[in-house]
Amino acid sequence: MVGAAVAGTADYADTDDEPRMVATVHATLMVIALVIYLISLALRLSAPTGDRTVVIALSIMAYLIVAGAAWVGGEVVYGFGNMVNRHAWRFGNKSSWTKLDVTDIPENTPTAAKAGAQSLVVVRQGSTVYAMHSVCAHAGGPLADGKIVDGCIECPWHYSRFELTTGYRKQGPTTFDQPYYDVRAAADGAGWEVRRVIPGQAEPQTGGQQVSA
Ligand code: FES
Repeated sequence: MVGAAVAGTADYADTDDEPRMVATVHATLMVIALVIYLISLALRLSAPTGDRTVVIALSIMAYLIVAGAAWVGGEVVYGFGNMVNRHAWRFGNKSSWTKLDVTDIPENTPTAAKAGAQSLVVVRQGSTVYAMHSVCAHAGGPLADGKIVDGCIECPWHYSRFELTTGYRKQGPTTFDQPYYDVRAAADGAGWEVRRVIPGQAEPQTGGQQVSA
């Protein structure tokens, strides 16, 4: 438990918002379980031949708390993708063109946009528009609040940089690329539409395209 706590504390230092709240519950439950286990151990050592009902009951209680805390910790990793990749659970090998909810994108400024249920950040440089998911793969930072540096979007939380043209990570601490999207002028001539680029997909695609709208 102490070993896990060291690793968990390192992750916790870089965890924010809702995952941090759930991680706090996880850590608190684990500490409570540890204390109960230690009490059980101390009672066993102090009276090795006495009635064992209480110490066994304490051990069972601690075990149940550990099981519950493990479930909560699993939610942090497998639910939020915390310290894994915020987009680790983004499966599927198909993506269709979806219209953006913006019709005006200021020049060279990260701008929040929606494509259906997906939250994106879009950047226009001249007539070229780039789009990637707005939730930073590292720990969920809001890329739409970031800034453009050397052809990348820089996350405002821990300063990871993702290349505008590909979503590729150019600077850590992230070790993951950002989901990115093809962009084209909307079929109805107003605004743009996007399609997620699926890694490894046979059809070659690029993250940004020259478009007019
Ligand atoms: S959330 Fe950490 S770099 Fe974006």
